[in-house]
Amino acid sequence: MTVLDPFVGSGTTLLAANKLGRHAIGVALNPDYKNVADKRLKENGYSDYFYIVGDANDKLEAIAPIDYIVTSPPYHNILRNSSKGTRHNNGKLYRMGARDGLQCYTDHKNDLGNFENYVDFIIALREIMSKAFLKLHEGKYCSIIISDFTVNKAETCVQADIVRFMQEIGFVFCGTIVLLQTVKPLYPFGYPYAYKINHHHQNIMNFMKPKPEKTKTISNGDGMQ
Ligand SMILES: C[S@@+](CC[C@H](N)C(=O)[O-])C[C@H]1O[C@@H](n2cnc3c(N)ncnc32)[C@H](O)[C@@H]1O
Repeated sequence: MTVLDPFVGSGTTLLAANKLGRHAIGVALNPDYKNVADKRLKENGYSDYFYIVGDANDKLEAIAPIDYIVTSPPYHNILRNSSKGTRHNNGKLYRMGARDGLQCYTDHKNDLGNFENYVDFIIALREIMSKAFLKLHEGKYCSIIISDFTVNKAETCVQADIVRFMQEIGFVFCGTIVLLQTVKPLYPFGYPYAYKINHHHQNIMNFMKPKPEKTKTISNGDGMQ
């Protein structure tokens, strides 16, 4: 079986697929991440994969049919949030502000992590997932891993937007598995002036590409159909 990750980054999907005896194909924009992925797979003795450097929007058309898609796309532009804070604050269970020291993935204009506008981000993700849909065998599954997040400080149900466009593409929604991140601090932002909880989970949303329904032949009982 072949597994596809259209946003493969440092190659975790390639590693996991190879560990499970599956061939894997990954696409990502940044050649540096390919080097990281190659190193990770080599260190673990795996080589049954293709890592394609480029925009998934262009590269998916050329790949062979696949049996499973699993991917974690950029979380809109949250890594571009430049406000300072700390995550490694001597083990205290709170933090102020945003992530410390993380950079955006690339400066590429088509990097979904660089889109200013959330709606444009959703449209671009939908475009790539509709190309991935065409490559998936019927009756096979696709999982998208992403958390909900804030856009301009407003809580945004990213999960709802993704389920809606995946259904429009033709996928059947099969439900969400929640990945609980117990290491993230519980303390709400803004306390004691406002109550704004941190996100402590990722949503693993699962979909299936349905098999075409067989045409039913209805008989009217006297031999006519
Ligand atoms: C959340 S990260 C994926 C992390 C990955 N699971 C790993 O093991 O590192 C998303 C990745 O998608 C890449 N990306 C963003 N837009 C892309 C596009 N249009 N085509 C291909 N890759 C893209 C980013 O550069 C980043 O490497």
